[in-house]
Formats: sequence, C-alpha cells, structure tokens
Amino acid sequence: MKEKKISVLGLGYVGLPLALELSFHYNVIGFDINSTRIRQLKKGIDLTLEVDASKLISQQKKNLSFTKNISDIKECNYFIATVPTPIDKKKRPDFSSLLNVCKILGPILKKEDVVIFESTVYPGATEEICAPSLEKNSNKLKSGKDFFLGYSPERVNPGDKVHTIDKINKVISGQNVRVENDLKEIYSKLTKGKVFLAKNIRVAEASKVIENAQRDINIAFINEVAKICNKINISAYDVLDASLTKWNFLDFEPGLVGGHCIGVDPYYLAEKARKLKINPEVVLSGRNTNDKMVDFIGREICKKLKKKSKILFLGITFKENVPDLRNSKSLSLMKYLKEKNHKIIFYDPYISDLKKYEFKDIKKMKKNFFDAVILSVPHKVLLDRFYNDFIPLLKESAFVFDIKGKFRKEGLPNYWSL
Ligand SMILES: NC(=O)c1ccc[n+]([C@@H]2O[C@H](COP(=O)([O-])OP(=O)(O)OC[C@H]3O[C@@H](n4cnc5c(N)ncnc54)[C@H](O)[C@@H]3O)[C@@H](O)[C@H]2O)c1
Repeated sequence: MKEKKISVLGLGYVGLPLALELSFHYNVIGFDINSTRIRQLKKGIDLTLEVDASKLISQQKKNLSFTKNISDIKECNYFIATVPTPIDKKKRPDFSSLLNVCKILGPILKKEDVVIFESTVYPGATEEICAPSLEKNSNKLKSGKDFFLGYSPERVNPGDKVHTIDKINKVISGQNVRVENDLKEIYSKLTKGKVFLAKNIRVAEASKVIENAQRDINIAFINEVAKICNKINISAYDVLDASLTKWNFLDFEPGLVGGHCIGVDPYYLAEKARKLKINPEVVLSGRNTNDKMVDFIGREICKKLKKKSKILFLGITFKENVPDLRNSKSLSLMKYLKEKNHKIIFYDPYISDLKKYEFKDIKKMKKNFFDAVILSVPHKVLLDRFYNDFIPLLKESAFVFDIKGKFRKEGLPNYWSL
C-alpha cells in the first residue's frame, strides 16, 4: 500500500483547518489559486481566524506546505477539493470553481489516485459534473476504473468553537469499497472515529444540502412568526423563550439569513428539483421569506426614525464572531437605509479593510451624536462594549434597534427588536 500524500485544494474556511488537521497524520500540501492567501499562510497569517497561528507555523516545519504551483502537488495521490460553490446572479448553482479544480487536477491524475470533494453540491454533481470534467482533462483515465471518487460534506461552522472538527460526525462516501475504507481511515483520524458511511456519493451529497435547506425553512417559519409578533407589539424572542420550554419545540431564531451556506445551498437543491421537474415550492418559499427580512427590518427602522437620521450601525459580517462578509445581509440593510437618506456610520471589529465601506473611526465620534444605533450582528465584543462605548455616543432620545434581541430584558427606552 502506497503512503498517502494528500493535497487540499482551496484553502478557505473549510480547506485550511482540514489541511492543518490532516498534517498531524499525513504529508499535506495545501494548494490555492489565490497567491496572496498562500503568501499569508506561509507566514502563519490566517485572515479567516479559523486556525491557531502557532500551529500553522509549527506544522509547516513538519508535514504541511502551501503552494500555488500545480507542479508541487503532482506527486500527491489523494486530492481533496474544498473550493467555493456559490450561486450566480440568477441564483443558480455556479460550478465554475469546481470545474476549474477538475481542469487543474485532470492532467496530473495518475492511476489509483483518489479525488474527494467536500464542496456543497446537489445530489449527482460529483459523478455527473466533476467526473466527466476530470476524465476530459486527464490522460485518457476513467473515473471508477483508473482513478476514484469520494465525497464527504463539510459541517464546520465558522466561529463555533464548540462543534469543532474533532467533535463532528463526518459523513463519508466513496465510489467503491477501497475509497470508502480510505475515507474511513483518513477522516476517523480527525473526528476521533466519528464517521458515517453513506450508502453512496449521491446520498452523501443530498444529506448535506438538505441539512442547510432544513435550517433555512425552519428559520423562515420563525421569521414569519416574528412579523406577526411585531404587529401585535410582542417580541418573537419572548415568545420563543416560552415555547422552548416544550420538550419538542425546535430552537430557531428570527433574523437576517446571509452567508454562503444557508442562504445559498437551498438553491442547489431547488436546481436539482427543477431538473427532475419537481417544483421546489417549500424550499424557495423559505428562501424568499428569509431574503425579504432585510426589507422588513429596514421598513420597521425607517418608520421609527426621521429622514436623514444619523445611525451607528454595529456589526456588518454575515454572522456573529466571524470576519466573513460573503452575502452579508447587514450590508444589504445598510444599503437599504442609505437609500432612504439616512447617514450611516458603521463599526465592526472583524473588518480591517474599512475604506470601501466609508468607515469612520468610532474613537473620533462625539458623544450624543447619533439618532439611533442598530446592533445588527451581535459579535461578543460588541455586546461587551455596548454600554460603555456605544450608548454614550447616542442622543438622549435615540432609538436602539437590537435585531437579535440581546438587550430586550434591560428596559431600554426607545427600543425595538424582532
Ligand atoms: N465555510 C463554511 O462554513 C462551510 C461549511 C460547510 C460547507 N462549506 C462548503 O465548503 C466549500 C468551501 O467553502 P469555504 O467557505 O471554505 O470557501 P472559501 O471561499 O472560504 O475558500 C475557498 C478557497 O478556494 C480557493 N479556490 C477557488 N478556486 C480554486 C481552485 N480552482 N483551485 C484551488 N483553490 C481555489 C479560493 O481562493 C479560496 O481560498 C463550499 O462548497 C461551501 O459551500 C462551507
């Protein structure tokens, strides 16, 4: 049996932690087409804040290296693709990064190599889209005969320091028993043995995409509840506190649904449904409800403010405690309010490149300056500093819009939350 030499392709939120953890057990080469990212990783800098800098540096002295050169990974025999699978402007799956990976890998594939995909896709994509592309770009190799495919969806939750890679049960699947055994061996090392072998690749693909679609639909229901509650002047969060005392009530919160998973993956499922001539009514209705929350919250804020209010906007990433701006609905909300002629000054400690968002340093702001504050993304640091650093910047009559209801039990005057 040949020694396993692994290349992880795509070193973002998913790929980098994976490459690092694998390097404690195997020889690993991380590959990315983004040369800035490679330069930073070589210096131990991870702007996604997902891995420990000291580990990143020390493992590079052992089993881990980073490259943007295809020739550096050609000796590897296991390739794990963790590249983005976003949607296009028409909200349809965009497979361009996956196809690009296949174009990169095809020419260097050798007999017996294994290609594992971790990117979220719809059922069938690995075998119907990736396999033909790998074959086409290879030296006449056939998938399932010369090289083999595996699929293992990623469940990592950025910013979540509880459900870390070693505590998550990882779904694995392979084209044949050999790949299944390989994946069992590789991933068991990371998850302390917690792997679930799915019946086949399509089952594993489907399992991932429905996990996120299910979350989206459940959140959509609670968002609809939040709108009803708002009309009768009660907080959805107070209602949830009561409902959650029932043993089988599901714990979902209302709010803005952005990011690259829950706000995106249901469209992959919808695309597959359409291909099968099934109308994805429930899936798309959930998406639609959640997408419209920006307008709903924006309208509620505007109802309470005079035109041209000065607003302090706190938190602009797609969710709390991460530096990720992809598909951030807080950015959409800021845009909505700007279009209504409000003056927005925002602050987010996770965002370092602030110029393009017209940032003004909070330290230079005068006391009693703002007509309102919007706590859009409740990063822990923002909550900790709320009373000392942000409340003094508000005028006495200012409004507090606390989208996630974090301060709703504190009796603040002029207060609104979902
Ligand atoms: N981030 C999450 O929380 C999460 C969770 C579960 C699943 N996923 C899925 O995992 C996949 C990766 O997501 P992510 O958040 O890590 O993305 P990301 O944008 O953080 O990282 C992707 C990386 O891939 C690189 N890349 C793009 N094309 C490439 C190519 N052809 N070859 C090599 N590198 C390439 C990019 O430069 C980038 O560094 C997606 O399918 C996503 O849906 C993500």
